[in-house]
Amino acid sequence: MSWLTIALAKGRLEEEVIKILIHAGYGNVIDSITRKLIFVDEMNKIKYLVVKPVDVATYVERGVADLGFVGKDSLLEQEKDVYELMDLELGNCIFAAAGFPGTLLNRGDEPLKIATKYPNITSKYFQNRQPIELIYLNGSVELAPIVGMSDIIVDLVETGSTLKANGLVILEKMIPISARIISNRVSYRFNHLRISQFLEKVKKGKDAYVGNFIN
Ligand code: PRP
Repeated sequence: MSWLTIALAKGRLEEEVIKILIHAGYGNVIDSITRKLIFVDEMNKIKYLVVKPVDVATYVERGVADLGFVGKDSLLEQEKDVYELMDLELGNCIFAAAGFPGTLLNRGDEPLKIATKYPNITSKYFQNRQPIELIYLNGSVELAPIVGMSDIIVDLVETGSTLKANGLVILEKMIPISARIISNRVSYRFNHLRISQFLEKVKKGKDAYVGNFIN
């Protein structure tokens, strides 16, 4: 059996992805509490690399990892040359335009100032609709309209609590987002059987994990 290397996104998705892997019979070597970045499962011949969400697709595209678990948000923003193999239907959230209640998105020729961590998604979304001025930020984007730096933000909304805590509301729902499994194109071709077997077990693990909530 050949080895598989899998890149996992730290943070928001990490806990649920590990639970699915455990339900699939994998992943029990991963200890998300430590600062370790590589975990080796000798029995199943799998290496896990724990990386920042925005870096998952880079490891997979470059073939350092055969597979990756990552949010659709990063995939849409980065447009990496990878295959998207499975929607895990977890980590569900939505891309939204948000701001103070009543803020207008349509301003005619006047550019709408938008603060975001997702410049590509935002530009594409507003292309042919409304001129915009992008303000790129690395986080805490909700602050931008509060301090008058932007008219609105484009960001992920999960529970809505960050918007609410800052007096902002969704002005327009844009794109639904969930976690995906991606594959390196060459690995998918040359390690197809191994990857298919892994996916089959993950699919069963996902169904068992989701089933726990339904039953
Ligand atoms: C994300 C996102 C929002 C928040 C939404 O930020 O950018 O700020 O979570 O989640 P909620 O709807 O459940 O409140 P993240 O936690 O990744 O931190 P950041 O703002 O520093 O990017």
